[in-house]
Amino acid sequence: MIMTELIEKKKNGGKLTREEINDIIDGYCKNGIPDYQMSALLMAICFRGMTEAETFYLTESMLNSGKALDLSSIPGIKCDKHSTGGVGDKTSLVLCPLVASLGVKVAKMSGRGLGFTGGTLDKLESIPGMRVNLTPSEFFETVKKVGMAIVGQSAELVPADKKLYALRDVTATVDSIPLIASSIMSKKLASGSDCILLDVKYGKGAFMPTKEKAEALAKEMVRIGEHFGKDTRAEITSMEQPLGFAIGNILEVEEAIDTLHGKGPKDFVDLILHSGTTMLLQSKLYDNAEKAKKALLANLENGKAYQVFKDFVKAQGGDVSYLDDPTKFPKALYSFPIKSLKSGYVKAIDALDLGLISMELGAGREKKEDVIDPTAGIVLAKKVGDVVSKGDLLMTLYTERANMRDLVSRALGDYEFSDTETTSLPVVEECIRMEGDDFIIEKD
Ligand code: URA
Repeated sequence: MIMTELIEKKKNGGKLTREEINDIIDGYCKNGIPDYQMSALLMAICFRGMTEAETFYLTESMLNSGKALDLSSIPGIKCDKHSTGGVGDKTSLVLCPLVASLGVKVAKMSGRGLGFTGGTLDKLESIPGMRVNLTPSEFFETVKKVGMAIVGQSAELVPADKKLYALRDVTATVDSIPLIASSIMSKKLASGSDCILLDVKYGKGAFMPTKEKAEALAKEMVRIGEHFGKDTRAEITSMEQPLGFAIGNILEVEEAIDTLHGKGPKDFVDLILHSGTTMLLQSKLYDNAEKAKKALLANLENGKAYQVFKDFVKAQGGDVSYLDDPTKFPKALYSFPIKSLKSGYVKAIDALDLGLISMELGAGREKKEDVIDPTAGIVLAKKVGDVVSKGDLLMTLYTERANMRDLVSRALGDYEFSDTETTSLPVVEECIRMEGDDFIIEKD
């Protein structure tokens, strides 16, 4: 294989064969292909795309770069979920323990922050002691004992995604349907679950700008999952404004803890109840959506979901005293409260720009070797639909970095106001699944 020829082929819109894709993934994992050539190929894929067959071969090859776990000896139906990424998206921290508290076994492989979006692994690692690099047998045992586990890609589990994910993060090669589909589905197939729920986000703070593109990505992933015999469903959800109030690692863990105590932001809780209901139906523990939702709500409020979260954090080495007393988490050195210069109703909040600001504050990586500041980020005080008076707090920026004051006026510009009443935005739009060869779209 001559890598420059394959880059050239893709650059000119050609189709890569299964063997070529296998050689590329194998060569990259064995360090035979340098990052600069892989980056060039990834950029060519971003511009030229891939056919359904190429995306499938890429997923298969990434999956085969490590081993797929066999969870069949754990009783019951195992379920996994994955989001395509958004701003303030801490869903897994609440949804996984919540459904596990009702008997779903959750075996989840997550990622780190990608571009302007945060990553579950970085959020979890902001809890002192927390380990996300479990061996396959530790992962298996934790799912069996606690009902859930969350790990990262490793030398054994989808090593190809571990390398490609880190490279895409810093080479502006994230927002491509075949690259996202293969990255997510290789992880979902490797973690060995029977059912997969995908949260495919669209809008300003997501990698898919429109609902149509999100639907195309969702269908690609559902098709791959079903091909491998997994019950795979995708929710299309809006990311036009950040999810919940908190953006940034420790800040999001704190919001997740509040939510697990029944005190979560409405848009975030709505999403969790929707996704949780789908997972309970997929796992066949419930056959009625209303009853499933009621049970989820009860376990958010009675502390059972929080207890599973604590058991999971403990099992993966985390110090649970931080969960019981979140004031123990370190705080950023600087905070900048931002007050409104206008009165009116919040019409829009630029999730993308707030994600980028959060990165500049220290919550994300610009280069592979960058270290994340877990205390950095933003906490919003107002969301779309809220009424605001001049002088009201809109948000607070948190950072350890000096000279960040310039971001204040930029962040202020991310709020748009209207003189007339606005309404809060619904999060879940529809759910896509397959029956035979057909896609079924259930509108919410
Ligand atoms: N999440 C992933 O795991 N991979 C992507 O490419 C995007 C979101």
